[in-house]
Parts: sequence; structure tokens; C-alpha cells
Amino acid sequence: MERLDKFLCDSGVGSRSQVKVILKSGRVTVDGRPEKDAARKIDPKTQTVCLDGEVLGGYRRMVVMLNKPAGYVTATEDKVEKTVMELLPPQLQNLDLKPIGRLDKATEGLLLFTNDGDLLHRLISPKKEIPKVYYAQHEGQAGPEDVAAFAAGLTLRDETQCLPAKLEPLGPGESLITVCEGKYHQVRRMMASRGMPVTYLERREEGPLTLGDLPRGQVRELTETEIQLL
Ligand code: URA
Repeated sequence: MERLDKFLCDSGVGSRSQVKVILKSGRVTVDGRPEKDAARKIDPKTQTVCLDGEVLGGYRRMVVMLNKPAGYVTATEDKVEKTVMELLPPQLQNLDLKPIGRLDKATEGLLLFTNDGDLLHRLISPKKEIPKVYYAQHEGQAGPEDVAAFAAGLTLRDETQCLPAKLEPLGPGESLITVCEGKYHQVRRMMASRGMPVTYLERREEGPLTLGDLPRGQVRELTETEIQLL
């Protein structure tokens, strides 16, 4: 059993305060009867809750992939900057989705969100070591010594020690970088430590997931099979 207002929030109907107003307006029914009491206990397995006649689903674990454009910070709120939350479409706005890890403001590409706190903590745990593949444009040209230094585990300019990583030069000023950790500005700092400052960065893969043909600025929900792979 759970409170009706919580059920409505988890169904994405709105925030706590919006749900209060909606309940007062009499638009919600439980098993066909109008219900205005926010504290009413319901059993989502056996009872049907409707808003304006439409059946609501309650909590459903969701993982969403965004192809992040540059110019948005990875935060749930920010007083100055635009946040990645603004890129979620209205139907995903009230589901308590949180970014899994972070991408810098200037970095583009694959960013996941979830409303499942356990999954979130498991995926950002340093123990998990999920490989993430980045495409970088940078100054200079990566050579065999750089590849070897990445593979051995770089020491950054501030003495931070990195785990072994993969550097694949693609051509002059272009490389793929695979890292299994998520330190602050990690890829930019790794490349800078080898004299190759990054001018453009895009995350293309995270574990088994790739951006595929998801357009920049768009989101898509992961399937249950994809969530299991994570
Ligand atoms: N490494 C960076 O430097 N920036 C990112 O956004 C992600 C990885």
C-alpha cells in the first residue's frame, strides 16, 4: 500500500505541490470514484488510479539516454547555467530522473539518467569500472609513446594517478580514448598531460551502450534488456 500523492508523483503527474492541486481539482479517481485525499492509501497492484480518465502506471524503473549537446552543465539545478535536465521532454520531467555520472559543459554525447537510486550508485561506483569511449579532437598528434603511456596508467600534472587506459590515434589531431574511471575533467587532463589539449570531446559509448543514431539533443528510453546489460 502507498499514499495516493506519492503514487501520482511516481507516475510523472507532477511535483508534490502540483499533485496537491490536481487532487483538489477532483481529476483523480481510484477504482472509478473521485478521490481528493492525498493521504489515501492505495494498492497499485489491485486498484486502478486515473487522471482525467487515463490509467496511471505508478513507479516504473527508467533509464534514459541523452545525446548531450555542448553548453549544458550536468546538474539537477544551477542558478546560472542551463542544465541537462532542461533537455528532458515534458513527459520525463517529473519522474525524479538523475544524471548517472557527468559530462563537462563543453562535452557532447552519451549521458544516462535514471530514477533508480540503487542502479545510480552501482553505476557511478569506482569499483564498477565501466569502460567509456570518447572521441577527441586535439592539438598535436598522438604517437606510440602516448599510446604506451596511456596503457601504463598516466600520472597527471597534479600527480593524480590514472588507471590504465586505451588511446587510439585516428589521424592528425583525432583520437579515441577509453577510460574506466570518471575523475574530474579526466580525458582533457590526460590528453593535456601528454601535450595534446582537447578542443572537442564527445562520449560515444558507455559499457555495452552506444549513441547509435540518436540525434544530438534527443533522448530515448533504454529497453529492459539494455538495462539488464548494464
Ligand atoms: N573527461 C573529460 O575531460 N570531460 C568529460 O566531460 C568526460 C570525460
